[in-house]
Amino acid sequence: MKRGNPNTWLKARAAEEIEWYLSSADVIVVERKRSIRLLGELFAHHFSKPAGLRVLDLGGGDGLVTEYFSNQYPRNDFCLMDGSVAMVDQAKARLKGRPVRFVEKSFEAYAQKGLDPDGYDFIFSSMAIHHLPLKEKGALYARVHRELRGNGLFLVFDVVAPVSPKSERLQFRMWVDWMNEALRRSNFAGEVGKFDGFPAVYKAKAENHPSRLLDQLDQLKKAGFKNVDCFFKYGIFSLFGGTK
Ligand SMILES: C[S@@+](CC[C@H](N)C(=O)[O-])C[C@H]1O[C@@H](n2cnc3c(N)ncnc32)[C@H](O)[C@@H]1O
Repeated sequence: MKRGNPNTWLKARAAEEIEWYLSSADVIVVERKRSIRLLGELFAHHFSKPAGLRVLDLGGGDGLVTEYFSNQYPRNDFCLMDGSVAMVDQAKARLKGRPVRFVEKSFEAYAQKGLDPDGYDFIFSSMAIHHLPLKEKGALYARVHRELRGNGLFLVFDVVAPVSPKSERLQFRMWVDWMNEALRRSNFAGEVGKFDGFPAVYKAKAENHPSRLLDQLDQLKKAGFKNVDCFFKYGIFSLFGGTK
């Protein structure tokens, strides 16, 4: 879909896009709070004593998810990487005073060279990797596998591509229903219907390259991951990954 187009997130003037995402994320990202909690629970189940671990948030944005981890599992070392200077600045402001390392780097550069020879125990990404076309996702997953330490864990929460037009219609419908439910539950009940056209906008956007879940699970296996699986799925929103 729409290859070769620029990724507006990484432009110097992505301010409008960033502001819109940050103010709408709790409504447009299905089960966002649950997905963050599940990332944490899977982390805690995998590392029965999650302390002294090195944790990397890929495409960490304004740091909301890293903040959750540093609140819940404070005795670990955190690093947030993002390709947008403006987002990294937002994350620095949100996480001020916390022992978090911030790195401004694109996924493409990370896939080529990695970040740290000491490696990481847990690498995760939320709502970011769909900005890479499938082949580049494969390169990123291979790098993540290389950079993970033994017994490492990698988890992705992201939008994935439906397998057919029929499946897409059903899952986009689920998405719209969920957004309207979220608006009804919030203080914005008067805005029900506001995002009904959003799935079409998301699909048309040049920077979105969602790939099928099964293709990404195959890529993870090819990269060497074990226990590759999807742990949660609600329409196109999926939480998947594997262990080293
Ligand atoms: C939708 S936001 C998600 C932010 C955060 N992880 C969250 O869940 O709220 C997507 C993030 O991915 C980053 N991003 C997009 N394309 C990227 C790329 N090619 N390399 C690095 N970061 C990228 C953007 O700058 C943005 O911060």
